[in-house]
Amino acid sequence: MNVQDPASIKATAKQLIEEYPDVNVLINNAGIIQSDDAAGVIDEDFLISTVTTNLLGPIRLTSAFIEHLKAKEEAVVINTTSILGFVPLATTAVYSATKAALHTYTLSQRYMLKDTSVKVIEIVPPWVQSNNDEPRAMPLASFIDATIKILGTDTDEVLVEEAKMFRNNPGPNENVFVTQLNDTMNSEPPKIH
Ligand SMILES: NC(=O)c1ccc[n+]([C@@H]2O[C@H](COP(=O)([O-])OP(=O)(O)OC[C@H]3O[C@@H](n4cnc5c(N)ncnc54)[C@H](OP(=O)(O)O)[C@@H]3O)[C@@H](O)[C@H]2O)c1
Repeated sequence: MNVQDPASIKATAKQLIEEYPDVNVLINNAGIIQSDDAAGVIDEDFLISTVTTNLLGPIRLTSAFIEHLKAKEEAVVINTTSILGFVPLATTAVYSATKAALHTYTLSQRYMLKDTSVKVIEIVPPWVQSNNDEPRAMPLASFIDATIKILGTDTDEVLVEEAKMFRNNPGPNENVFVTQLNDTMNSEPPKIH
């Protein structure tokens, strides 16, 4: 399935529900990140693909599965956002904005589904060595272990220790924190891909 393509999402959802009628979990995890320059020209293709994958994808996927999920005795929608949705990395401005948007969409979804059988969970990863060996990022195995443990609780937001300060600092003084984070990252260019 290509989550950028609404027809592909609809067809895949239909096929999955037909073949696996017991399915009661949807994990919106696909996401793409690329450097950009919010002070300059934003490439149109990059902009559309990032917003389409990271924001429209989860919205469309949930929409395609939601009636099926609501019919289950218990069901879960999990949205993967990012600490960068709370404290943006300025060199990935579009990515950070899509994750902030997915966070607020998740809050709305949770509210609208509160009287149904569908629980809405947000996973807020810190920087993880999922596809890189960046020493400043959290090792993938540790992230998975901690995440699985937290998923075993009844929390709405999965925040490993490394993610908590990013989740907790936004507020009226968030500009100070955003500046500090970005100054630190700029002093040694991040190897994010
Ligand atoms: N790694 C981090 O530091 C970090 C931090 C915060 C949040 N996150 C979030 O965690 C999630 C997973 O990230 P990751 O680090 O595991 O990234 P990754 O290793 O690059 O994996 C991204 C996944 O998304 C899938 N994908 C991308 N575009 C797609 C499309 N159009 N249709 C279907 N699948 C698509 C990829 O599938 P293919 O392999 O088939 O292309 C791949 O399985 C993302 O939402 C990311 O934003 C990651």
